[in-house]
Amino acid sequence: MYKAPRGTADILPEEQAYWRYVESQATALCRLYGYQRLDTPAFEDASLFTRSIGESTDIVTKEMYVFEDRSHNKLALRPEGTAPVCRAYLEHGLGNLPQPVKLYYFAGIFRYERPQAGRYRQHYQFGFEAIGEADPALDAEVIDMAWQFFKSLWLNDLYLYINSIGCRKCRPAYLKSLKSYYSKHVAGLCKDCQTRFEKNTLRLLDCKQPTCQEAAESAPRSAESLCLECGEHFTTVKKYLDSLGLPYQVNHRLVRGLDYYTKTVFEIQPHGEGSQSALGGGGRYDDLIEELGGKPTPAIGFASGMERVVLNLKQQRVAVPDAQKTEVFIACMGEQAKREGVKLAATLRRQGIAVAGALSDRSLKAQLRQADSLGSRFVVIIGDDEVKAGSVTLRDMGKGDQRSVAMEELGKTLEDILRCAQE
Ligand code: HAM
Repeated sequence: MYKAPRGTADILPEEQAYWRYVESQATALCRLYGYQRLDTPAFEDASLFTRSIGESTDIVTKEMYVFEDRSHNKLALRPEGTAPVCRAYLEHGLGNLPQPVKLYYFAGIFRYERPQAGRYRQHYQFGFEAIGEADPALDAEVIDMAWQFFKSLWLNDLYLYINSIGCRKCRPAYLKSLKSYYSKHVAGLCKDCQTRFEKNTLRLLDCKQPTCQEAAESAPRSAESLCLECGEHFTTVKKYLDSLGLPYQVNHRLVRGLDYYTKTVFEIQPHGEGSQSALGGGGRYDDLIEELGGKPTPAIGFASGMERVVLNLKQQRVAVPDAQKTEVFIACMGEQAKREGVKLAATLRRQGIAVAGALSDRSLKAQLRQADSLGSRFVVIIGDDEVKAGSVTLRDMGKGDQRSVAMEELGKTLEDILRCAQE
């Protein structure tokens, strides 16, 4: 028997309500903040990612799915969504539009990671990028949007961490002081961190191993080594966040796992878990567009893993509306009743009401059982008496009561109740 590849998952029909809920809240939010959807291919030139994410990052060295196609092009399944958006921004001349250009995406992301709860080899991200504006007000707007995304899903007990990791002017001096500090602690670090010490010093700060965490606690802080411009930027971002009333905490160990970040970085984490379980993260990447061949163009963005969001919705027992449930089930008894039922089903569907039933000659009991298993809110019962009277019996499955409704009134009656319930 075949199985889905390790680290991938099928999203079964019973899971879909969560996914559609997250997608619809995210899409509504994008409208509020002025973002437009962009879809990019699932694979790109591998060098797009090597160049942007960074040659010595875990993603590029250990996790990228790289392959050669039959024309010997070196391609990679997208391990993140920001670089493809920047590539598309440049390729389609979006720099000529009024800035910032605001784009969002839902995309399958591929990383060869060690699978565990909330960590997959294929996951889906909801992400958004605002390109072409350096103002710290945009940092605050993006962080606010990320925070409101989770609030709109009714997720609670979340932490919002922010930090500034400086720019290409001030980062080299900071990295030097970090390296000098860590040179006294190398022996006590985990094996991965001993390699990071040489190649990716910044990431020593967010290692999850207890001994490494201890060393990181007393390490020099990037936010205290910022140049004047980065320092002012960070102070202003915090002021805006204060005025928006966002409950952020500055976390000097927050550095993110991709090399393109500059200045502001941020992450949203659920209560009581390590950053491996981050619900989402992002930050500024003011040099990336230039590194990809464009003119200097500041930008900032955020992405969240949908699987982790769904996991947290379940853990926090958030009741999601089930868009898939049938609203009305039509139970018919007898040939004539079925003819009416088939017509009614078609009429109601044309009105936008989700209808099941009107298909079988099974007993009323069996049809009601089916209505129940489909989670139908209403059952319309049609028998010989109803056909003669030109009416139906409308049963409210939630309340357990029923009444007679004229057949031609049924559409309007249901529309009134269902529309009213959604408001
Ligand atoms: P990232 O932190 O690597 O950032 O990923 C964003 C989010 O995707 C994470 O916070 C997490 O929720 C989810 N995620 C990451 N890896 C996995 C995995 N293996 N399984 C399940 N979920 C996962 C980025 O990718 C940046 N492109 C975000 C960004 C956008 N920065 C600026 N703009």
